[in-house]
Formats: sequence, C-alpha cells, structure tokens
Amino acid sequence: MKICCLGAGYVGGPTMAMIAAKCPDIKVTVVDPNASRIAEWNSETLPIYEPGLDEVVREARGRNLFFSTDVDGAIRDSEVIFVCVGTPTKKQGIGAGRAADLRYVESAARRIAELSEGPKIIVEKSTIPVKTAEAMLTILHANSKFGQFQVLSNPEFLAEGTAVEDLICPDRVLIGGEDTEGGRAAMQTLVGIYARWVPRDRILTTNLWSSELSKLVANAFLAQRISSINSISALCEATGADVDEVGNAIGKDSRIGPKFLKASVGFGGSCFQKDILNLTYLCQHFGLPEVSAYWESVVKINDWQKHRFAERIVRELFNTVTGKRIAILGFAFKKDTNDTRETAAIAVCQDLLAEGAEVVVYDPKVREEEIRQNVLGSGTNENLKIVRSAEEAATGAHAIAILTEWDEFKTLPYAGFFESMPKPAFIFDGRNILPHAELRDIGFRVFPIGKAANTPRQKSDRV
Ligand code: UDX
Ligand code: UDX
Repeated sequence: MKICCLGAGYVGGPTMAMIAAKCPDIKVTVVDPNASRIAEWNSETLPIYEPGLDEVVREARGRNLFFSTDVDGAIRDSEVIFVCVGTPTKKQGIGAGRAADLRYVESAARRIAELSEGPKIIVEKSTIPVKTAEAMLTILHANSKFGQFQVLSNPEFLAEGTAVEDLICPDRVLIGGEDTEGGRAAMQTLVGIYARWVPRDRILTTNLWSSELSKLVANAFLAQRISSINSISALCEATGADVDEVGNAIGKDSRIGPKFLKASVGFGGSCFQKDILNLTYLCQHFGLPEVSAYWESVVKINDWQKHRFAERIVRELFNTVTGKRIAILGFAFKKDTNDTRETAAIAVCQDLLAEGAEVVVYDPKVREEEIRQNVLGSGTNENLKIVRSAEEAATGAHAIAILTEWDEFKTLPYAGFFESMPKPAFIFDGRNILPHAELRDIGFRVFPIGKAANTPRQKSDRV
C-alpha cells in the first residue's frame, strides 16, 4: 500500500513518521511545497522538536518514509491521501477572526481531483469546521473524470511535547466516514493501518459529522476546564481559599477527575482558542446563538484572566508601574516548547508596556525576534527588552512574574535576586510553581494565582 500526506507540519510529520515506523510494508510519503521544510525533514535537525521523534524518523526514513516536494507525484501514486495542511483562522471577510480559512484544504481537494485516475481515500486530519468533508466530496466529484473518492475524518489529538507518546499510545483514534458500502470499506482500510499498534477497542468509527465535531468539542471541553478553574482562582484570591487545594479536592471525585485543573495565567497554544472560535461560529451559522455565547465565555474568561494578572501587578505595585522594571520569566505557551502561539505572555507584556513599565523578558527556548513580533507586531518600543538569563532579567527589577512553568524557574537563586531588587520586592507566580513560603521568608511579597498573598510581616507588626 502507498499513502501520502499533504502538509509536513507539526501534525503531518510526526503522524506519518509513526505510521511508517509501525508499518514497514507501507510506503509513506510526506509532501509539502515548502522546500526548506522538506529539506529539514530530510536532515539531521528536524523542523520540530518533540521528545522521541528523532528516533522514530531515523528508523523509517529512507526505508518506507520519504519527504518530498513532489506533491503531484505523491497524489498520483497513493491510494490513501492524508490532508494535514494548515487551517488558520480567517483574517478577513465573513467570519473573520473566528472561522477557519479553508483555502489550502480546498486547493488540496482540487489538485487530488485533477490528478486522480483511480479510487482514492482522502483523510482529513486538519482541524476543520463540521461538514467540510461534504464540501471536499463535492469539489472532488465536480472536478474529476475518473476518480471514485471516499472522504474520511480522522482528527488529531496530539499535544505538543508529548506528540510521540500520544501517537504510540492514544486514548482513542477516531475515524469518521459515510455510512455506505464504500464508506465502510474505506474506514476499514484506515482502521487496518492503526490496528497494527493501537488496541482495536480504542479505534472508534463514527459518522463523518460526529468525528469532525468531536475534535472541536474535545478541545472546547479541555479549555473549559481551565477557564472554570481560572474563574474560581479569582474567587479564591478574594476569599482566602487556595485554588490548588480546591482543584485537588474536586479532582478526587472520579466523575470530575484530576487532570486539567491547574489554574494559570491563561491557556494558550494553537488549538484551544481557534477551535472554540470555530465552534461558536458554527453555532451561529446554525442559528444557535445561546450555544455560541456559552462557549464564547470560555475564551472571554481566558482573556480576562490574562488582563487580570497584569492588573494585579499594577495594583500591588502601588498603582503605578511607569518606569519600573518588571522581569517576565517565560514566554512560551507552556514549558518544553518554543511555541508562542496565543501565549498568555503576549497580553501580559502588552498591558505592562501600555502602563509604561520596562518589561524584561527571558525564555529559555523562544527566540528574541519571535517575542518582539508577538508583542509589538511591526512596531517598536524601547521599553521591551529581551535578555539571555533569568538573572539578567531579575537583577534590579521591582517585580518578577512567572508566565511559563519551566522547571529551571523553580530553583533560581531568588535570595540573590532579592538583594539586587528595590524594596518591597514582588513575585507574581502565574503558574504556582514556586515555594511561596520560602520566598516570603527571604522577604518577597508573593502573589500566586488563586491563593492569598504571601507577604512578610511589616516591621510595625513585629513584637
Ligand atoms: C495543521 C492545521 O493548522 C491544524 O488545524 C490541523 O489540525 C493540522 O494541520 P500544523 O501541522 O500544526 O496544523 O500546521 P503547520 O505546522 O503550519 O503545517 C501545515 C503545513 O502544510 C505547512 O508545512 C505548509 O507548508 C503545508 N501546506 C500548506 C501544504 O502542504 N499545502 C498547502 O496548500 C498549504
Ligand atoms: C491541546 C490538546 O491537549 C490536544 O489534545 C490537541 O490536539 C491540541 O491542543 P496543546 O495545545 O499542545 O494541546 O497543549 P495543552 O497541554 O493541552 O495545553 C494548552 C494550554 O493550557 C497551555 O497554555 C497550558 O499551559 C494550559 N493549561 C493546561 C493550563 O493552564 N492548566 C491546565 O491544567 C492544563
């Protein structure tokens, strides 16, 4: 069997590498018009960093895994075609800022139709609005003289940093197809590929729309849990409850479960916000404004949480940060990645700059230009500084803010930082990873998320 994948991105590359590694008899070709990206996939330094990915690629590359820019050749040659091209949020026109831009998916369908001379199975992997398969089928049939097409939906549930683990041992593989003889046969072909390494009871087959919708709903539910606990974090700060204790207590209820209950400065990443906005757009389109508003509130709380964090810094620093140096530790949307898409750090830095603060950012993995571009766009602001160590950021700062939970931040020499900082010295822990009581004992005024402030006693309080 020969399969190919259009799009050598975060999703296409690792997924195909895993299929090739597990199915040595299947020829897997990943194609992308971006020649430099393909060259990277063929080199010793892959274009994305995922633990374990190098080994998987090394095992199969050149044997039955190939990376190429010959898109047309791969389409002609393959029986199964995965579509993993980008689906960014539309920037203009109807649904701008919310709906997915499907131009790459559509052009993929047109190209497949033109080049196909026999039956093909097309597998949607890109996150797309519900009913995209239908549109693809229409385009395929309208533009092809010979082809018989089956479109399947096989959404991706990879999280960054654990992509290889998620692929080796998925909670489930979801395959949606048409409930016709041809549709069922196509689904069985794809089931057959995954069944080489995934237990059969974890491979679910559904109708097309259920599968497409499940991807959006899975991400919406995950994001909703974070917004739920983040909303409670504000109440904890107001009342003196501790959000980690509350999260732990409710997570012990097996119906609720312990995961995704960590309060934070806000969720980021390429998927959560995009997929929820997609979902709300879909609900509006189908005349369900109440459902749309419900899910939109998950994004609103997330935005509020980011701004609330910045506001708290300003408030605690005696209502002015103008000219004050604030050290921002961490810029990536989560630890162990250099990805900054939708990271909460963007809003926090922008808010502090708008207040006239000197914002000094350190992140172990994110490049300087990436941070500038995210915070300032094409503009400039000499108050934004990017430095190469946490120490450089923190020395002489009025406050330190932790925005990403990098492990190295847990063990920094905070006592030394304290000596160099104007007093009172502040720490705002946007990830609740620091030893708050110890920092207080050093003399810091510590403000975690969802917990009472941990501040040293004033001299006047002492007996
Ligand atoms: C993409 C989608 O954005 C996401 O919605 C979906 O769930 C999976 O695919 P990702 O793999 O992270 O996610 O995107 P990206 O890393 O940007 O890769 C997309 C690739 O498609 C790029 O390498 C791009 O060059 C390629 N592409 C784009 C094509 O091969 N053909 C096109 O017409 C357009
Ligand atoms: C997510 C989904 O987990 C994955 O299944 C899907 O395919 C793509 O989107 P990813 O964006 O890589 O994956 O990251 P994830 O680990 O889910 O974290 C998303 C954001 O939520 C991060 O900013 C993280 O810091 C934040 N988060 C996560 C919290 O704030 N609290 C939590 O308890 C969990």
